Amino acid sequence: MLWRAPTTAVCLRPMVEHDIDVVVGLALAADLPNANRTSLEREFTLSFSCRQVAEREGRLIGYSIHWDLGDEAELHALAVAPEARRQGVGRALLRGVLLRAGAGPCILEVAEDNHAARALYEECAFYPQGRRQDYYGPGRSCLLMRHEAAPSAGDVAASIGGKGFGIAGV
Ligand SMILES: CC(C)(COP(=O)(O)OP(=O)(O)OC[C@H]1O[C@@H](n2cnc3c(N)ncnc32)[C@H](O)[C@@H]1OP(=O)(O)O)[C@@H](O)C(=O)NCCC(=O)NCCS
Repeated sequence: MLWRAPTTAVCLRPMVEHDIDVVVGLALAADLPNANRTSLEREFTLSFSCRQVAEREGRLIGYSIHWDLGDEAELHALAVAPEARRQGVGRALLRGVLLRAGAGPCILEVAEDNHAARALYEECAFYPQGRRQDYYGPGRSCLLMRHEAAPSAGDVAASIGGKGFGIAGV
């Protein structure tokens, strides 16, 4: 599936090893755990690890990593470059994950005080399933969130295609 707006299109494509340095930079800027080359390289050795990046005008501006475990998917990382936030890139990446995850549920962990990510997940029909007190350290709890029904390819195309987003072999 591929569609593209004429000018500042955002394209989702599979992450390749050549992207690792830039992705580590995005992970560090987003304060994500395991923001290092070793962790990223390990993802490339896991058959169930699915990695995508978002690119605009040749510049990598976001990425996601999820594990496709057969009966369910786990989202492990999602980040957008600070200067590219609130432009629909995170939503496009998340929709790409859900498209790839197929019909099974998708689960994730998010810091309870991460209001931006929680708003995005809730908008995309994730719901809180549990809570882990002090999971990220004293006073920093985590929410477990779950998404039940993955959208069809048509739904995804309709929801992100009209705003200058494309998916290329993710
Ligand atoms: C969370 C994150 C990936 C969102 O990416 P993004 O590209 O800015 O998100 P989008 O522009 O696609 O936002 C889609 C919707 O999510 C919600 N949202 C996103 N950021 C928000 C914010 N800062 N405040 C409130 N709502 C927000 C809004 O509903 C938004 O729709 P709108 O812009 O039409 O109102 C980004 O903020 C990020 O990289 N944060 C640091 C890393 C991180 O926390 N990752 C998640 C770990 S679990």
